[in-house]
Amino acid sequence: MNRIKNQITEKMGVQEEMGRQLYFMEKAGKYVESLAAELGRKPTCCVTTFGCQMNARDSEKLAGILEGAGYELTEDEGADFVIFNTCTVRDNANQRVYGRLGHLNSLKKKNPHKKIALCGCMMQEPSAVEKIKSSYRFVDLIFGTHNIYKFAELLTLMFESDETVIDIWEDTDQIVEDLPVERKYPFKSGINIMFGCNNFCSYCIVPYVRGRERSRSPRDIIREIEALAADGVVEIMLLGQNVNSYGRNLDEPMTFAQLLREVEKIKGIQRIRFMTSHPKDLSDELIQVMKDSKKICRHLHLPLQSGSTRILERMNRKYTREQYLSLAEKIRREIPDIAITTDIIVGFPGETPQDVDDTIDVVRRVSFDNAFTFIYSRRTGTPAASMEQVPEGIVREGFDRLLKVVQETAKERASLLNGQILEALVEGVNEQDPDLLTGRLSNNMIVHFEGKEELIGKIVPVRLAACHGFYYTGEALPKEQDGKETGIPNG
Ligand code: SAH
Ligand code: SF4
Ligand code: F3S
Repeated sequence: MNRIKNQITEKMGVQEEMGRQLYFMEKAGKYVESLAAELGRKPTCCVTTFGCQMNARDSEKLAGILEGAGYELTEDEGADFVIFNTCTVRDNANQRVYGRLGHLNSLKKKNPHKKIALCGCMMQEPSAVEKIKSSYRFVDLIFGTHNIYKFAELLTLMFESDETVIDIWEDTDQIVEDLPVERKYPFKSGINIMFGCNNFCSYCIVPYVRGRERSRSPRDIIREIEALAADGVVEIMLLGQNVNSYGRNLDEPMTFAQLLREVEKIKGIQRIRFMTSHPKDLSDELIQVMKDSKKICRHLHLPLQSGSTRILERMNRKYTREQYLSLAEKIRREIPDIAITTDIIVGFPGETPQDVDDTIDVVRRVSFDNAFTFIYSRRTGTPAASMEQVPEGIVREGFDRLLKVVQETAKERASLLNGQILEALVEGVNEQDPDLLTGRLSNNMIVHFEGKEELIGKIVPVRLAACHGFYYTGEALPKEQDGKETGIPNG
């Protein structure tokens, strides 16, 4: 009884919060309106995203609120309001933010109306905020990952204050639904199914800056996807740091595979992707659901991190090299046309050239379709930061060795598709050649082919003519007329 009561109060709290934020959006809108009168034009805003898909989705929420307040969105950092949605997973992500901030400052000197805001994962680190407070005093607003839903309110505060507004929370259990979102693509969208992470891999900062794992209710997720489908979205990507542990903490627990079965039923959605899968939690039930599905894409991102059991243990990954290998083998056996991609870290504390050999051996055996390789970055506050670090020269040597093999296997895998006819979702006009369109295959491979802009957002059959390593060139074929879902965006 009490639990039900709590749920109702929680829900009411969320409703109230939403109303509150809509009120502030209107209030911020008044400030934007008076700025517009002063400028004699609509004020512009720019949201720059660093980091992962989660951040990209958060940026769409920021953009939705800014648009709601009356700003015009642009991709130009010369805009009247610029917000950096930051990442702190590796130090180079932080360095890029500092570098770009210097440039923003020079732009601000030329535009006295310009406002600058920072949010996202890096702001959850006290040392980063201290540095900004002392060396980047021109920043007008700073907030973190947990109170992003209060952006309209913070924006209002920023307009009302002469000093930097700073609001960072340590954690939250709130999930506020239904605030406006401005999608980057009309035909595809990410959807958060959960927030935070409980895994505490020993190198990783994410659990500290994103808080504990919270799953959204399946009802809210389905409702959001239905609305997206009604709005023309054909491809969705379900987002979570470890989607395989989805639903464990819900009042009525549900598995990720069960959620996928429900999502599959949504009319109009033709492709389903998800990110990321932790190998330790990938179930047979999920493999079965993927195998049975007509909509789940033939792509699995399955971060390996290391191919050495000794290192995996120190990383707190909770699987061995053998377990990973047999999982990958099972997946390839059950779903032969699937592409498996991965993340690998080189230079984790204590890693020897022999450990790198073990990783290279796993890369060869699994034959990854693509692998993102990272040099280990020491993150303050994580357990690995206090372990003995590997000298830079040794890390570099291991990294180069690994990269070579990763590229070879990816090329080999890619070439297997030569001559096949596969469906591609047309994502846009090719950036280098305006006569070409760029499409994405179910297995996440990119293909360029001639075609008209009207095809953007449609799924079309393409013959893969030539493999160029990591992408294909090909030719679009006429659509089939047999009523299959191919090419029917809202079927
Ligand atoms: N939740 C996802 C990964 C999120 S971070 C997962 O568990 O797979 C994305 C990738 O960044 C990780 O897979 C890892 O390879 C890399 N990464 C995370 N922390 C890192 C660090 N301190 N140094 C180098 N790479 C890191
Ligand atoms: Fe980081 Fe591990 Fe969580 Fe992924 S699962 S976000 S690597 S702690
Ligand atoms: Fe970076 Fe935060 Fe994503 S640290 S990788 S933006 S969750």
